Amino acid sequence: MEMLVVSGGHPLSGRVAVSGAKNAALPIMAATLLADGPVTLRNIPQLVDVATLARVLVSLGMKVHGDTSAALHFETVDDSQQTADYELVRRMRASICVLGPLLAKRKRACVSLPGGCNIGHRPIDLHLKGLRALGAEISIENGYVYAAANQLRGADIYLGSAFGSTVTGTCNVMSAAVLAEGTTRIEAAACEPEVIDLGNFLNSLGAHIVGLGTPCLTIEGVESLSGGDYSIVSDRIEAATLMIAASLTGSLIELENVPVHHMTAVLEILGQVGLKISQWGEITKVDGRGERSAVDFVARPYPGIPTDVQAQMMSLMSVTSGKSIITDSVFPDRFMHASELTRMGAQIRREGSTAVVEGIPRLSGAHVMASDLRASAALVLAALAAERETVIRRIYHLDRGYERLESKLNALGAVIRRVEDQPVELPMAPSLAENATRRSHRAA
Ligand code: EPZ
Repeated sequence: MEMLVVSGGHPLSGRVAVSGAKNAALPIMAATLLADGPVTLRNIPQLVDVATLARVLVSLGMKVHGDTSAALHFETVDDSQQTADYELVRRMRASICVLGPLLAKRKRACVSLPGGCNIGHRPIDLHLKGLRALGAEISIENGYVYAAANQLRGADIYLGSAFGSTVTGTCNVMSAAVLAEGTTRIEAAACEPEVIDLGNFLNSLGAHIVGLGTPCLTIEGVESLSGGDYSIVSDRIEAATLMIAASLTGSLIELENVPVHHMTAVLEILGQVGLKISQWGEITKVDGRGERSAVDFVARPYPGIPTDVQAQMMSLMSVTSGKSIITDSVFPDRFMHASELTRMGAQIRREGSTAVVEGIPRLSGAHVMASDLRASAALVLAALAAERETVIRRIYHLDRGYERLESKLNALGAVIRRVEDQPVELPMAPSLAENATRRSHRAA
């Protein structure tokens, strides 16, 4: 197991590029199952989750080859496989994205139910509701979803939930509907940019989807989809994470490939905090050197502030003078990072699906544990601005969704080491060290 040792207090400067979006790459990779010809995908981020899904697709009879830094090539070589195995799916919830494409293309699908998750309850009832509406026979046995349909038929489907809509649920149902007979209308579809990117990808292969980016999608089923060549959208969540790093360290940095048109709410809230963000052609300048103000916000479905940025914002508010009230309306329990930030001295109080943060001047380095993908990023960010060193364990969570985050931050001037897990004595705060010395002298 590896861990990160982060030395706090180093300002950042320079320029790094934002990678392709994980949450677009995964459903689009799954949707290559639908194509009758070879598909090339570009701007795919080099992530553990991408590698895991590639293994799932290979186990489903696809040939997947290439170099993610350039392009990945996908082609079905054996369409007799219909089971996405537990051993692979348990590593990544997003494997559920193969369910819709597999069912639509091969008439049968057997996909392991996704495992548990540290960010809260994550059912797939809406995925199954949508596929049943298209005519699929669905049952759940021994931890697997079994789905079958000789021919899916277009239907009117409502995908809303108490929490808004479902991103991967919309991806699954939309992917299945493109090969259904007739017209499908999806009401309360997710509007996230990653869902739009999947729809644009499917349309580039010959699908007929209109309404992308709105809650109402209309899909005219087609006989088949061709192969194609498609470039994945940039990652708005990684871009927000790097912007928050600039604010936390009081730095001026430059970012390439920022999808600013997908980040209106994030740019708005970061502007309220005090960041100055400006566009110079393809380069986004992020100036975090000014005073910061505490802000209240609610994480919501797109176009609201993404739940995937909530943890990183909590790190920022932890060292911003004033009180910040943070609510997550998508995953009300997504606060595992709060207890780890508290270990670093953050003043955070939970009140149901809300956290109240009292900003303090500086966090202190500590041993902390990552619990999920975005919580890991939040701890890295907090450590950048903390005193002395912070050791972050279980960083396999981080690698699932960030392409070499510590390399990008080090390229900007951070001091982060990735080492094998080992006991590490953290330097004590001077006052604590002096007290310890006095106690040992008295004892002698
Ligand atoms: C996607 O997860 C993302 N993952 C998540 O990103 C992201 O946090 C989430 O959307 C919300 O934006 C991928 O795209 C791979 P949902 P997903 O279905 O699709 C409820 C990250 O860090 N719900 O939109 O699983 C659910 O409980 C990850 O990159 C149902 O009730 O999320 C939740 O409260 C974490 N029934 C809400 O909807 C369902 O059938 C939103 O969930 C499905 C969901």
